[in-house]
Amino acid sequence: MRAGYHYFGARLQGRVAGLYKAQLTPDGLLGEHQTVHADFRHRGLVRAMFEQFIAYGRALGATANLCNILVSQESMCRLVESFGFQSKESPYEQAPGMLVQLYRRSTGLDTRKTRETGKLSATAKRPR
Ligand SMILES: CC(C)(COP(=O)(O)OP(=O)(O)OC[C@H]1O[C@@H](n2cnc3c(N)ncnc32)[C@H](O)[C@@H]1OP(=O)(O)O)[C@@H](O)C(=O)NCCC(=O)NCCS
Repeated sequence: MRAGYHYFGARLQGRVAGLYKAQLTPDGLLGEHQTVHADFRHRGLVRAMFEQFIAYGRALGATANLCNILVSQESMCRLVESFGFQSKESPYEQAPGMLVQLYRRSTGLDTRKTRETGKLSATAKRPR
């Protein structure tokens, strides 16, 4: 929870199989660094973790779930779109040579205020 980050792990067969971190920002719950261990890929774990991410956003009272997806990760782009995430703007370089697309999905709680306020993460901001 340091610096407002919430870390999540999925355990399978006694091992940590998947990880991501999330931060509540004024724009919504931003999920980052989703990773599934190579031994546990191609069995739908990332889908289960996105279901939890979406539910956690609602539980916190966030107005939206946000995530930056590497544009080279076509299957991740397809996955988030299958959950109703939308990308309204063009991809941007989150770091030199690292092109990402910011996706947003409303939690349906748009009229409520978030229960925590956090400083907007630099990773959620688009350069002007
Ligand atoms: C990207 C990543 C998180 C995907 O995790 P995963 O748990 O393997 O994802 P899934 O199992 O849900 O889906 C992967 C593929 O397996 C398929 N799949 C899911 N369940 C399956 C099953 N039971 N049998 C066969 N295939 C299956 C999915 O349809 C998907 O296929 P697609 O690539 O053609 O769309 C993982 O590969 C990873 O950690 N990569 C390195 C880090 C990274 O790139 N993170 C994302 C940054 S944006």
